[in-house]
Amino acid sequence: MTADVVNHHADHPGFAGVTGLLVGLIMSLAGGAVARLAADLVSVADADRVVDVGCGPGTAVREAARRGARVIGVDPAPVMLRLARTLTPNRPAITWAEGAAEDLRQPDASVTVVWSLATVHHWRDVTAGLAEIKRVLAPGGRFLAIERRVCSGATGLASHGWTAQQAESFAAQCLAAGFTDVRVENHTPGRRALAVVRAVRP
Ligand SMILES: C[S@@+](CC[C@H](N)C(=O)[O-])C[C@H]1O[C@@H](n2cnc3c(N)ncnc32)[C@H](O)[C@@H]1O
Repeated sequence: MTADVVNHHADHPGFAGVTGLLVGLIMSLAGGAVARLAADLVSVADADRVVDVGCGPGTAVREAARRGARVIGVDPAPVMLRLARTLTPNRPAITWAEGAAEDLRQPDASVTVVWSLATVHHWRDVTAGLAEIKRVLAPGGRFLAIERRVCSGATGLASHGWTAQQAESFAAQCLAAGFTDVRVENHTPGRRALAVVRAVRP
């Protein structure tokens, strides 16, 4: 693997079965601080229509809906979508859809916010994912990617995230995809160090 590859876990087999369910439950217990940070950073409000790419158990979907937005949670893993539905009280503002970053199955320019929390490192095709996100965002729409900060040379579970170099590399790919106002930031909600890349669809 080259040090600046941002989707270095693209070969992950995907979440399924009882293991997928257990991992999803753990994610739902751990994801609250990141979900709140995402919603704060893009100032989600009731005028927004949000797509959560790789929504997993839906923690950030529920956070955006609590702030008044309409939200679509997209994930390729049916087990995650089943768990997300189970954990989410009936809310008309939320819809769930099977899909992936590379194929969001949403109309052109139909949303104001797209975020992807701890998922870019799993995307199969980063160029296709960024083009798809740009397609579904309306002009002025905000894009946010958050990954756990990891040490260079980490292996196994400890490598699921980005080094500083990988965050910079993803920012460069956002610029190449035609996004503007691209920024790399570090945030530490609770005790977790996170790499954040923000961009705007011109
Ligand atoms: C580590 S989990 C994070 C889930 C959720 N965003 C959270 O923070 O709790 C990664 C998620 O990315 C999803 N995923 C994997 N490949 C993906 C792709 N190509 N596009 C979008 N999501 C993907 C997985 O199914 C999984 O739900």
